Amino acid sequence: MTQEPPSGAGAKSPTRFLTGITTTGTPHLGNYVGSIRPSVQASFRADVRSFYFLADYHALIKCDEPARIQQSTLEIAASWLAAGLDPERVTFYRQSDIPEIPELTWLLTCVTGKGVLNRAHAYKASVDKNEAAGNDPDADVTAGLFMYPVLMGADILLFKTHKVPVGRDQIQHIEMARDMAQRYNHLYGEHLVLPEAVIEESVALLPGLDGRKMSKSYDNTIPLFTPREQMRKLIAGIVTDSRAPGEPKDAEGSALFQIYQAFASAEETEALRGAYAAGIAWGDAKQMLFERVDREVAPMRERYHALMADPAGIEAILQAGARKARAEATPFMGELRQAVGLRNLGTRPAAPAKAKAGKAAAPAFKQYREKDGLFYFKLQDAEARVLLQSQGFESPRDAAQMIAALQKDGQPALAALQAKGQVQALPGIEAGDVAAALKFFAEASAS
Ligand code: TRP
Repeated sequence: MTQEPPSGAGAKSPTRFLTGITTTGTPHLGNYVGSIRPSVQASFRADVRSFYFLADYHALIKCDEPARIQQSTLEIAASWLAAGLDPERVTFYRQSDIPEIPELTWLLTCVTGKGVLNRAHAYKASVDKNEAAGNDPDADVTAGLFMYPVLMGADILLFKTHKVPVGRDQIQHIEMARDMAQRYNHLYGEHLVLPEAVIEESVALLPGLDGRKMSKSYDNTIPLFTPREQMRKLIAGIVTDSRAPGEPKDAEGSALFQIYQAFASAEETEALRGAYAAGIAWGDAKQMLFERVDREVAPMRERYHALMADPAGIEAILQAGARKARAEATPFMGELRQAVGLRNLGTRPAAPAKAKAGKAAAPAFKQYREKDGLFYFKLQDAEARVLLQSQGFESPRDAAQMIAALQKDGQPALAALQAKGQVQALPGIEAGDVAAALKFFAEASAS
């Protein structure tokens, strides 16, 4: 993480974690191990405030089957509750119950560079695919897909989130949310907290039936709450090699072994490793896996079916969650509306905010800390295009001093830093663009 959270999220307040789950599928063992189980565990930490929500607006981007959206929302809510999520401890809600989310989406839309969204992975992947097929670049691309990162930014920023546990594929979205927050704060004052992605390295990526990552798109999943006998059948279908009973088997690279490991204790895992070496029959290994998974899943499965039998009960839980979420979101959204000038006309217009140098769109320095523990900064132009990138520094003060020098002295300071390799212009960036950005700061400090 990088900067201190702005006021409003004081140092003593607990760290806020937030995760959204898109409501398009049925939870499988991979979702359980990779997301549900660690999230439920994290929600019991005293120093954490957790927000979990069903991202049903996001679901509309990729699914146009109303019945499936509804069914998936129900199944995912029931799964999280069955896995032990305590709606009293956490804030558990449905995205579409929070009108402040689409409201904030618009405010963020207005501070997000279109060029930034052009570079979002999911959108770019669709464009690349179209281009490869010789189609119009935007063929079959909805504006919803294009705007996906802004909606996600609103999810995150509305609840002053500090940390967002995500898979690697989502890091870019968190970066974008940070940029939106920075841009908004730069224009309207410090209101939004800059979020940070947390990548859970320790959480297992579960292989599926065919040995590839367990994923609905590969059709290789084991649904978390499939009936017991069905689970047994599915586990029996996991790929193995053709080694006969009595022949030693490799634990490394065995999907069966990896799934077992995700459920078993260290001792149990070692015992299975020994059994592999001793030539356990695949059928017996599958039976062991089934029993181990079922031991963890069976009690949850019972709760799951009880919850699924009472959809109105789940609805009531989500409604209560929405009230809790909105108790924070509604006043905060009021603050954000006020800040941008969406104001009650009956009150005296506030004196215009201290004039900022230049127009609304302005270049900005950004300081941040990377996983390597070092402090970095970059210079972005008004469209959030990165112009300059620093190397890493041991102390945030070093980075801050260089920023100050660049802001005050402009070109000479840049030349000195570049000579020492401490700052680099990015490929494709014109020297004139850098000069213009630096001039902006020199003029701002002179005025
Ligand atoms: N985009 C996320 C996914 O596909 C789901 C999501 C929506 C989300 N809003 C979020 C995740 C906010 C974290 C924070 O997995």
